[in-house]
Amino acid sequence: MTIQERITQAFERRFKSQPTFIVRAPGRVNLIGEHTDYNEGFVLPMAINRAIYLALRPREDRYVFVESMDFGDYVEFSLEEMVRGRHSQWAEYVKGTAWALEESGYALNGWEGVVAGDVPIGAGLSSSAAIEMATARAFSALGNVIWDAAELARLGQKTENQWIGVQSGIMDQMISAGAVAGNALLIDCRWLNVKPAPLPSGISLVILDTATRRELTHSGYNQRRSQCEAAAQHFGVRALRDVTMSQFIAGSAGLDEQVMKRARHVISENARTLQAAAAMRAGDAGEVGRLMNDSHISMRDDFEITRPEIDTMVRIAQTKPGCFGARMTGGGFGGCCVALVDAEQASAFSEAVAAEYTQATGLTPEFYISNAAGGAEIVSNSSVQARS
Ligand code: GLA
Repeated sequence: MTIQERITQAFERRFKSQPTFIVRAPGRVNLIGEHTDYNEGFVLPMAINRAIYLALRPREDRYVFVESMDFGDYVEFSLEEMVRGRHSQWAEYVKGTAWALEESGYALNGWEGVVAGDVPIGAGLSSSAAIEMATARAFSALGNVIWDAAELARLGQKTENQWIGVQSGIMDQMISAGAVAGNALLIDCRWLNVKPAPLPSGISLVILDTATRRELTHSGYNQRRSQCEAAAQHFGVRALRDVTMSQFIAGSAGLDEQVMKRARHVISENARTLQAAAAMRAGDAGEVGRLMNDSHISMRDDFEITRPEIDTMVRIAQTKPGCFGARMTGGGFGGCCVALVDAEQASAFSEAVAAEYTQATGLTPEFYISNAAGGAEIVSNSSVQARS
């Protein structure tokens, strides 16, 4: 049974009627450009064919009733009185998104719904951005919000920053909201311009889930962000996006050693991301792969956000036939890696890497081969069918 069928059944069970809308928002994998988004730099993510689905029906009042099939949980809250931290984490993303929308002046209607998805949680594939963007899509299906991917991504980021307490950037929400099927997106995180970049033909992206989960992410993540801000201040700029590598080399004296390394990662990563997008457009998988390998070294040694299992996975992947390059993807401290692999060799590659990884770590990894999915959308709308 598909997720859509499952949530429709659960909806009928709980609310004794059919949902009016089903909306979907995807998870993502980032090809390159890590921890550059909140430095107002460049990222190159792609939406994956794993998503959060939400089936809903409008209510006449200002209550939201929502069941999560994945967490076996059900919550109710009033849009009149949203209080932080009362519910389990998945529901805080739904409520926090509603809060961010109301804060920005949108007048929201209540709804009842059921949510479920297949984006692995805590794996660095943005299940939280997907639930935020599915919630925003739901309010937009009800006619409360005009769908503008960049604007709603900004509000998703506000949810993370001000409701959840993670000082994350805007990449995950931007790609979940605005992905273009068949393409990765080069996103300029200062201006929120996007440029589609197709995957070179005959190439698969293999997501390698290390079966490790992030721990203490919030503090590690927020600390990296403040270190980047300290570096920007040292250089007298608004964000590290404004510092070139030669300016960095000329002006890094006096920087704290750790802050210097964090800045070097961000500055070099911004340059690599632009080069990778150009190489993608030129169909040069070898060059994209090389940049991904360099990105991993920079995350490991300068940004210090990998861990032994992640480094082991990347090292094994990089040595296998058909692999152009591999790196950790996402916020770090656990989760997934991503490899650029010759499509014909992708399954042999996955099997060989899995066997060697298990031997080295004792862990059982999961691999997903994903095409580039489209962004958040309404996948079914019975209000239109009823009218026509
Ligand atoms: C997390 C954050 C993003 C981004 C990445 C690292 O996914 O949510 O904003 O900073 O980490 O690139």
